[in-house]
Amino acid sequence: MFKERLEANARLVEDRLQDLLNGEGEGDFAPPQRLAEAMRYGSLGGGKRLRPHLLIESAAIFGAEREAALDAAAALECVHCYSLIHDDLPAMDDDDLRRGRPTVHKAFDDATAILAGDSLLTLAFEIMARESTHSDPAARSRLTLGLAQAAGWRGMAGGQMLDLMAPGQTLDADEIALLQAMKTGALLKFACEAGGIIGGASADDMAALSRYGATIGQAFQLADDLLDAEGDAATLGKAAGKDEAAGKATLITLLGLDAAKARLRELEQKAVRALEPFGPRGEMLATTADFIIRRTH
Ligand code: IPE
Ligand code: IPE
Ligand code: MG
Ligand code: MG
Ligand code: MG
Repeated sequence: MFKERLEANARLVEDRLQDLLNGEGEGDFAPPQRLAEAMRYGSLGGGKRLRPHLLIESAAIFGAEREAALDAAAALECVHCYSLIHDDLPAMDDDDLRRGRPTVHKAFDDATAILAGDSLLTLAFEIMARESTHSDPAARSRLTLGLAQAAGWRGMAGGQMLDLMAPGQTLDADEIALLQAMKTGALLKFACEAGGIIGGASADDMAALSRYGATIGQAFQLADDLLDAEGDAATLGKAAGKDEAAGKATLITLLGLDAAKARLRELEQKAVRALEPFGPRGEMLATTADFIIRRTH
């Protein structure tokens, strides 16, 4: 049931991204073909589409149709794909494999990967600003502002800076939590909040979504770090065993594997508790928290 729903949401967002990246939209100039190809390569054909799933299912709590959340979900996925393309660059994590294929800079070149990332980031805001994304201008404005805050210097990009500065430093648990809340948590939390905006959530319900989103954000990166430590590239579709070698700041280095796994289970319980105000309507998000901590890729 959960798997089917995640896959159905993934298919919907994939189709929407196809249309958006195959020239839907307007502008004074046509995009260079090589850039468009690199953008499509970096964003279509792979990925769990977890952020779109969270956005769509958060909106569904309030009775919003999936279609009403789809453009915002596609915009968010564009930002996520951009973050992966840049994360893999030689100047950052220097990875050759992503989603089971050569990374964008390997399939194209570094400069093209930088520009494809830039263009996906910008396209995300173009999509958010369109009337078709939400008929209410105030909702569009909140979606755009939220995405900007989650993606930028006080969010994902800021967290990536902390991540790159960490090797050689000794971070404590709070510093690692902050780094991860920014680099990974911010976009996941925004996914849930954007669903709340689209669904017309009350202030209390938004606060519950934010708590849930921040908690699964922590859990998601901890699970990613555990998969790096214990997984294999064939299953993950990306390199494994790199964090320790690169001196990345993770809770595993600090706490050890067993304590990190215990922490993951605590985070799942905390996430599920945050959903209590929604009663049975929160079930899909509760199952999603379970998936996040148990996933194998
Ligand atoms: C990987 O994210 C990057 C992190 C934030 C840890 P995902 O595991 O969601 O990657 P895809 O989209 O499924 O490939
Ligand atoms: C990346 O964290 C988080 C991003 C903002 C892209 P990682 O560097 O651990 O992600 P993976 O393991 O390469 O997917
Ligand atoms: Mg990284
Ligand atoms: Mg990486
Ligand atoms: Mg990782």
